[in-house]
Amino acid sequence: MKVLVTGARGMLGTDVCEVLSQKHDVTGVDIEEAEISSLPETRALVKRVSPDAVIHCAAYTDVDGSETEAVHAFLVNAEGTRNVAVACEGIGAVLLYVSTDYVFDGRSERPYTETDAPAPLSVYGSSKLEGERHVQSLTSNHFIVRTSWLFGLHGRNFVDTIVDLGQDRDSIEVVDDQVGCPTFSRDLSVALASIIESESYGTYHVCNSGSVSWCGFAEEILRLWGNTRTRVVPVKTERLNRPAARPAFSVLDTSLFETTFGSSLRSWREALAEYVKSKKRGN
Ligand SMILES: NC(=O)c1ccc[n+]([C@@H]2O[C@H](COP(=O)([O-])OP(=O)(O)OC[C@H]3O[C@@H](n4cnc5c(N)ncnc54)[C@H](OP(=O)(O)O)[C@@H]3O)[C@@H](O)[C@H]2O)c1
Repeated sequence: MKVLVTGARGMLGTDVCEVLSQKHDVTGVDIEEAEISSLPETRALVKRVSPDAVIHCAAYTDVDGSETEAVHAFLVNAEGTRNVAVACEGIGAVLLYVSTDYVFDGRSERPYTETDAPAPLSVYGSSKLEGERHVQSLTSNHFIVRTSWLFGLHGRNFVDTIVDLGQDRDSIEVVDDQVGCPTFSRDLSVALASIIESESYGTYHVCNSGSVSWCGFAEEILRLWGNTRTRVVPVKTERLNRPAARPAFSVLDTSLFETTFGSSLRSWREALAEYVKSKKRGN
């Protein structure tokens, strides 16, 4: 299968290219090769590569930055995705769009299923949701995969931040009133490979199993890193006063993915342990 991956130098895109290359003919592109907010550039790229499928990982992912750069967030995440969708439909390619738990408002008392109504709290979440809507209305054959709280070896993420802060601090304040599913981008990439190889089109929630607060996540990171000195101090979201509102509870129900594809992702703790091991080895 010939697969085009956008955002190929990003955290997820790098892993997706590595994993897919084991079995498929993969072309990875990033902003240097094609600016997705340009329809002519995106169309020309997709036409030239002529893939069977596109895995669209490119996005403006700065959640707080999106609040002040709303025009740019919508240009990349909504219009850019529309352009990718138009280009895919033009050559009959399947599109897999990576979306986010931030399309939900976090007020649910049970994990979100694919049929729950999105209600984003932030500009980033709104722009990603508009991207989903373009994919649904413009392409015949598509997958929308919502995932959450990514960490991976090829991009700066929460795990790295906590490890670094722990080097010279005795305590770190971390919010304990936001709960979600940390997900290893490598594990997600393996799942995306099985999704793209299928014809079970639709929307899926895919993340490592189990859920935790950012605070609990930070504690586990420090424990696995062997940092016994730094204490994690639980604080409420308001205290950090960040520009973008985030869902308090964005746990995703992954049972549709599990029943459709006959597999589930391991627990976030196991995945984190492997990630920390790799980091320690210097990979
Ligand atoms: N990170 C998370 O926790 C998380 C959670 C849920 C869903 N997601 C979704 O997962 C996907 C991958 O996320 P990630 O964390 O791997 O993101 P990332 O590391 O920021 O990678 C995104 C890539 O897209 C590129 N890009 C940005 N604007 C572009 C444009 N206008 N045209 C072409 N390429 C452009 C970026 O290039 P530059 O670096 O040069 O800007 C970057 O290489 C995104 O769709 C994101 O919304 C992420």
